[in-house]
Amino acid sequence: MPAMTPTVLEAINRQVAAEFSASFSYLAMAGWCEHHKYMGAGRWLRLQSAEEHTHAMKLFDFVLARNHEVRLLGIEEPRRDFKSVVDIFESALAQEQKVSTQIDQLYELAFKEKVFAAMAELQWFITEQVEEEKTVREIVAKFHMVKDDPASILDLDRELGGRTAVEEDPGNE
Ligand SMILES: [Fe+2]
Ligand SMILES: [Fe+2]
Repeated sequence: MPAMTPTVLEAINRQVAAEFSASFSYLAMAGWCEHHKYMGAGRWLRLQSAEEHTHAMKLFDFVLARNHEVRLLGIEEPRRDFKSVVDIFESALAQEQKVSTQIDQLYELAFKEKVFAAMAELQWFITEQVEEEKTVREIVAKFHMVKDDPASILDLDRELGGRTAVEEDPGNE
């Protein structure tokens, strides 16, 4: 008996692509920031890109662990026509909110199809989305507080550059 229903499997494969897409999108944001010499924000976004990569791999590994074949669907070219560093983080927040909705829908689907192992796996993602939305929302709020003051924006950029390496491997054990 297959470990997952075709619908759930397909939806998880789509989420693998969505996580890679988020990784690519953050990388495009990092590129924009570094091109415009916001090196701290660039570092933060590069690390976030790497973190999204680990999310994709966590689901990739999950599909394989359930003895299914993983499909890598195509991803689109990410947006890069940003207006400002604030615009970047506002877009990042919108992106995280969208992903949270996708994860919720995926969880609901797994529940309806009684794929309990997928529900357990997705719980990690639900918690992670709460954390990611919170972090990005706080960064957006700080940018809104400093408005157009160049010195404060540079301070904030330096603060973002203090982000340390990628969070521990989300692990499946
Ligand atoms: Fe993610
Ligand atoms: Fe994320």
